[in-house]
Amino acid sequence: MEKMKANVFHGKDDIRVEEVEKPRARVGEAVIRVTLTTICGTDLHIVRGEYPVAPGLVIGHEPVGVIEELGEGVTSHRIGDRVLVGAITPCGQCRACLSGHASQCGHGEGYEALGGWRFGNTINGAQAEYVRVPYAQANLAKIPDELTDEQVVLLSDIASTGFSGAESARIKIGDSVVVFAQGPIGLCGTAGAKLMGASLIIGVDGDDHRLAVSKQMGADVTLDYRSVDVPAEVRRLTGGGADVAIEALGTPQTFESALRSLRPAGTLSSLGVYSGKLEIPYEAFAAGIGDHRIVTTLCPGGKERMRRLMDVVLHGRVDLRPLLTHRFKLEEITEAYQLFGERKDGVLKVAIEP
Ligand SMILES: NC(=O)c1ccc[n+]([C@@H]2O[C@H](COP(=O)([O-])OP(=O)(O)OC[C@H]3O[C@@H](n4cnc5c(N)ncnc54)[C@H](O)[C@@H]3O)[C@@H](O)[C@H]2O)c1
Ligand SMILES: [Zn+2]
Ligand SMILES: [Zn+2]
Repeated sequence: MEKMKANVFHGKDDIRVEEVEKPRARVGEAVIRVTLTTICGTDLHIVRGEYPVAPGLVIGHEPVGVIEELGEGVTSHRIGDRVLVGAITPCGQCRACLSGHASQCGHGEGYEALGGWRFGNTINGAQAEYVRVPYAQANLAKIPDELTDEQVVLLSDIASTGFSGAESARIKIGDSVVVFAQGPIGLCGTAGAKLMGASLIIGVDGDDHRLAVSKQMGADVTLDYRSVDVPAEVRRLTGGGADVAIEALGTPQTFESALRSLRPAGTLSSLGVYSGKLEIPYEAFAAGIGDHRIVTTLCPGGKERMRRLMDVVLHGRVDLRPLLTHRFKLEEITEAYQLFGERKDGVLKVAIEP
């Protein structure tokens, strides 16, 4: 039995890099040698015990690598291909996938909420030397030779998610857009709003460094929620309310501020992961008859999504490298979690090299 190094979740605040069994490709699967990965805010929720996964699971869900082994039936790729795999790995064949809702993949049946999120959730993940990719034919996206691992690693999750916040809102050319929170997801929401043709983009956060990066990613104006009444200022800047508000934090406060920043018939596009109760005050919502739209989105995955996102980078429409601020070896991942979790030293995303 061959071994590999991997970051294993053992329980709350207990992750360890240790030797585990190296995966083998079964029918329809592939094994890739991971060349670069990263840590997601969702991994922090897992390590802090706020999102349950089974002890013994290898965590992480953002793999870039080289195909090491192809299982029976995988004819679309060759061993040695460099590939990007989305954080969400839909089966491509169930009712949800074939209806265009692949992130809610039903595992061969109807729909299952978050069912497309498998890596580091229901199966072993990417913070490892090797990772087994399910439904390989639907999920391995070949990386163009011109692109480096660093240019594509953030497309797997945060860029796909952030951009989808703008896409789900159906931003139109000339729209005004406010993005609540400029963490990695919100910054990609800002970049997504720009890609979609927004005219005025307002980035909201309370961290000076992140507000500066917000401008770099496309914000025209930034607001510090610590010192500004954000909804009032957004209504002033937009002449009555933004066309679109993207929520990228997942708190009742930002959800409500997003709603209060909208014009009637505006769209609230929510990306945050919430816990507890979310209340909607009637007056922020025109008593329910203001023609508002509220949409939510889980990160889109699958090889076609990854191909499109890599094209966006290849043709110079967006550069995510400024978000990759630190680099660690897999052996040092506990240190990386600490830095990332404490948001120290201007960290946005950390590159992890197995
Ligand atoms: N929808 C999806 O598929 C998906 C995917 C990944 C992550 N997420 C979720 O997206 C959210 C954001 O993730 P992240 O990694 O960017 O988070 P993060 O924790 O790195 O960043 C959050 C940011 O919010 C700012 N902030 C705090 N309070 C604020 C306030 N009142 N107003 C404005 N900004 C405020 C902080 O300064 C920080 O910069 C999380 O809820 C995460 O779980 C969703
Ligand atoms: Zn994630
Ligand atoms: Zn499916």
